[in-house]
Amino acid sequence: MNNELDPRPEDLKQRVWESIQRDELPPSDDRGRMRLVMNNLVLHLHPSKVAKPTLKFTYTWGLGGLALLLVALLAITGVMLMFVYTPTPASAYQDMLNLQTDVWFGQLIRNLHHWSGNLLVIVAFLHMLRVFFTGGFRAPREFNWVLGIGLLLLVVAANFTGYLLPWDQLAYWAVTVGSSLLSYIPLIGEGLRNFLLGGPEVGAATLTNFYGLHVAIIPLTLMGIVSFHIWRVRKDTLTIPHTVDGKVDGSDDGDRIEKVTTLPHLVSRELVFALIMTGAILLWAVWVNAPLEAAANPDHSPNPAKAAWYFMGLQELLLHFHPVFGAIIIPALGLGALALLPYQRFDLSAEGVWFRSRKGRWLALVSVVTALIAVPLLVLLDEYVIDLPGMLPSLPTVISNGWLPLAALLLLLIGYYDGTRRLFKATACEARQGVFVLLVTSFVVLTVIGIAFRGEGMALMLPWEVL
Ligand code: HEM
Repeated sequence: MNNELDPRPEDLKQRVWESIQRDELPPSDDRGRMRLVMNNLVLHLHPSKVAKPTLKFTYTWGLGGLALLLVALLAITGVMLMFVYTPTPASAYQDMLNLQTDVWFGQLIRNLHHWSGNLLVIVAFLHMLRVFFTGGFRAPREFNWVLGIGLLLLVVAANFTGYLLPWDQLAYWAVTVGSSLLSYIPLIGEGLRNFLLGGPEVGAATLTNFYGLHVAIIPLTLMGIVSFHIWRVRKDTLTIPHTVDGKVDGSDDGDRIEKVTTLPHLVSRELVFALIMTGAILLWAVWVNAPLEAAANPDHSPNPAKAAWYFMGLQELLLHFHPVFGAIIIPALGLGALALLPYQRFDLSAEGVWFRSRKGRWLALVSVVTALIAVPLLVLLDEYVIDLPGMLPSLPTVISNGWLPLAALLLLLIGYYDGTRRLFKATACEARQGVFVLLVTSFVVLTVIGIAFRGEGMALMLPWEVL
């Protein structure tokens, strides 16, 4: 018989704690601190100490964390849905109906998955805006910004591939319209579309392809990049929030950056926020069902046939520009400019300051108002007054409805940048922010016009006539 005493502590609570921690608290010297980090999962995700001002909720609005929570909710509910879903035209729609009647909490799980996915597009976009407006992309975080753009694209791709899976009219026609954007890529567009759809039209092969992309390829890539993104945030640390007067925001004496331990200061806040948001999403999913229309019918196209809501800005652009410009060149220019943003020169005193400065705030507001007025006016002008291809019949439409209006818009943007620099004596950083706000607001306005102001035959209508 072995009479050796059990070396573990007598106190049960401490025994349980140590079984989780893997180790007793190490001494507080450098090696001890390193051992603490090595043995603690939370401190693998976070640094052991964080700057206290970064805990201020109104600095990050918890948007990055919320995006992470949504990714987790999507993974959990997505795996649950896989148990009852078969990606074939014969059973996909029926599986959606079965979820409502035959599966315990089936409708709720589908609702949670649907709304979390849509919310993630909005949250990732808002998180990008927060990072931009606080200068969070500044060195050494430039590459993390570029990774973020990749994440935004993946989130949209995950939504788009998931859109088809219920195999109802909404899904079928939104994917038909959305994937048609691809065919405008010169030379390879048609081939690329056929490859993605598994044939010339949306059909059984498309469902299999989209399912594979949606449940395996995109989530795995997304999780890989998210892990890299979070690791970079841990290594680079968050930008310190500052007031417009150059003081550290949320610090008692305005200049000192106080540090606090991650456990419990950051982790407790994260837990409370995650619980509140999970509760709110759950409530929403209990009350509001994910849409499901009649089963997909390839012979009956709805009028209007609209893309998914996050592509409506692009669909609206297509109504005004030559397709190659609306679907490819303008979005590619926009994305390219977005990726290059952090590599532009930046006014260091604006780092961590919401909207750069007092003047920056004011200029951002002016830019929002300008876009809110100019974009609807331009849409109306193009719809009812100006017909460039008709006015210039001798020119190919790629020039009259592509290069010409694009050159005019670029000139207007340069004029806007130059005007704010001269008239308002704005710094390059403030003026660039003005142009960014102008473009982002324009994109949002175009999306709203596409969603709410386009009716039969994609003609302009007032929202209550569309309904
Ligand atoms: C699935 C999507 C995403 C997830 C899960 C995610 C997650 C996070 C988290 C947890 C943080 C730290 C806390 C916070 O700032 O709220 C963060 C910071 C950051 N994110 Fe994201 N993010 C996503 C998308 C994006 C996008 C679209 C961009 C930009 C294009 C971006 C760029 C950045 C940058 C530069 C930081 C550091 C900000 C600073 O130091 O102030 N992320 N992200």
